[in-house]
Amino acid sequence: MSLAKTASMRQMLTFRTVARLGSVSRAAEELHLSQSAVSIQLGSLESSAGVALVARTGRGIRLTQAGEMLLTYADRLFALWHETSDEMATFLGDFSGTLRIGAVTTAEYWLPRLLVVFVTENPKVKIKLTVGNRDEIVRSLATQQIDLAVMGRPPAELSVDSVPIGKNPLAFVASPQHPLFSVPRLDMARLAEEQMLVRENGSGTRTHIERLFRDVGLRLRVGSELSSNEAIKQMCAAGFGPAFLSLHTCILELDAGRLKILPLPNNPSEREWHAVHLTARPLPQVAAAFAQFLRQGGQTEMLRPLLRYLLPERRLRSPRARLA
Ligand code: PGA
Repeated sequence: MSLAKTASMRQMLTFRTVARLGSVSRAAEELHLSQSAVSIQLGSLESSAGVALVARTGRGIRLTQAGEMLLTYADRLFALWHETSDEMATFLGDFSGTLRIGAVTTAEYWLPRLLVVFVTENPKVKIKLTVGNRDEIVRSLATQQIDLAVMGRPPAELSVDSVPIGKNPLAFVASPQHPLFSVPRLDMARLAEEQMLVRENGSGTRTHIERLFRDVGLRLRVGSELSSNEAIKQMCAAGFGPAFLSLHTCILELDAGRLKILPLPNNPSEREWHAVHLTARPLPQVAAAFAQFLRQGGQTEMLRPLLRYLLPERRLRSPRARLA
């Protein structure tokens, strides 16, 4: 028997609920069905699939290998089902739906502020934000768990459309008590003698510092490597370092005088933020509207708190400064 001909969305919903809760009785409770109705639906789905999808264990239920595979498709089916409903509502003039967006960890320092502005303007929109490292966000995009991703460089391994949405200023920073602040005419050659606190391989921040050192023909001495902006900041403010960080991540520490930008030429430097989506998949209207919102107002909003830390020529290029 073919699954496509005989299985129903209702059976898929039941299967997904059982999979999530790991129990027929709890699924029955959540779906307001009797336990036998849940078992009958599961049984029908299994006979349509021609294979067992769940196995009974002492404590409840676990998915078989076939069940795991079906679950990934069930998740995609339901995401598309919800999107269908949102798109129909938007078509009828009711702008609602879920913005499924992913962001690399450095973007979590500015993106939520912009999300607040967007949902305030569009109160029926719900947010589902996934924050992760670059690999995780690329994977979420590839498996369509998110519709839109905010990251530095767009992934080369996927076929994507991307638009630049604003600048990411990155800088060498240290605790204000660090001896480097007493070095006259500090330059990259002197900095290269230090053990640096850096982000993990593969992150945009790490790629950028490696490029800066490569460009001037110097070797980067990695002191400690941490996958967390937060941990780097804390270690650096405690006197360890210098560190290389996006300024988005350390506005509070700069404002409080716990960290200071090192007086080096061209420090901070810049990367670009991009909004990225899969070329092959039409962007849901909510995601398209947010991408448009980022393109139009993103730069102004995201740089507002750190304008005073930018180099004067970059400050002039920022839209906020032009308005001021
Ligand atoms: P990341 O992001 O360093 O957290 O990967 C910043 C970027 O990609 O520029």
